[in-house]
Amino acid sequence: MREFSFRLAFCAGVFASFVSFSHAEIPAAYTVCASCHGEQGQGNISLNAPALAGQQADYLTRQIHNFQQGLRGTAEGDTNGAQMQAFALQLQDESTLASVVNYLSALPMVKSESTLTGDIAAGRTVYNSNCSDCHGAQGEGIEALSSAKLAGLSDQYLFDQFKKFQQQQRGYAPEDKRGRQMQFMSDVINNDESLRNVVSYIQTLSGQK
Ligand code: HEC
Ligand code: HEC
Repeated sequence: MREFSFRLAFCAGVFASFVSFSHAEIPAAYTVCASCHGEQGQGNISLNAPALAGQQADYLTRQIHNFQQGLRGTAEGDTNGAQMQAFALQLQDESTLASVVNYLSALPMVKSESTLTGDIAAGRTVYNSNCSDCHGAQGEGIEALSSAKLAGLSDQYLFDQFKKFQQQQRGYAPEDKRGRQMQFMSDVINNDESLRNVVSYIQTLSGQK
């Protein structure tokens, strides 16, 4: 009996280390990224680094390419974008990029901390009439449209990005077709209060279809 329980404990130990290994297998190239975006892609609000966990693979790949090609992060005054651009340049090898993107998109979505206050009910109305067709009713993103998953992102990051689209600091390059599309949409909200309401509502979404 003692022998049996020893074996059982041994097997359980091997199994547990196998399971935790397969979960925590962080691609080497992601180590530097984790210092800002977190090991589990949870983001870091004080560094303005967005959550990346569970984001669409297609969207993540395009953003890295955009940073590399200067289609994002090069506008005047976009210091956060410029900071990120420098790191995107470290992912020139496409298979390394794919391993990082696959790791991130497979991670479970996290809910970022909320730091803004908005009227959620008012935001829901605006979201459902202006955003859900492209970003999904639960902010899950629509892969066929290659729109981003918005659920899980912090309200502050969503607010800042929306402003960047409005101020032509994102979606400014003609080659950035998806960014242009979003930039074109960004004039539907014309005041900060309404934008705060929408991003507060987005933070309540589950990201599940
Ligand atoms: C020094 C901190 C820092 C490091 C290191 C860093 N990032 Fe970022 N990253 C940021 C910030 C800040 C932003 C937001 C940029 C903006 O405001 O447009 C960002 C944005 C992104 C985005 C766009 C997300 C979205 O929703 O559009 C992706 C993808 C990304 N980073 C991936 C990476 C990867 C992969 C690495 C490692 C090669 C990395 N980052 C390293 C700070 C960092
Ligand atoms: C016509 C389709 C369309 C509509 C409508 C639309 N979007 Fe987008 N949105 C996109 C696409 C496509 C992207 C990805 C842009 C890129 O690749 O840079 C995007 C990106 C974004 C991002 C950046 C996400 C990130 O991770 O950085 C935010 C924030 C956003 N949209 C908010 C909104 C809000 C809020 C509304 C409603 C007021 C809205 N969008 C309406 C297509 C749309």
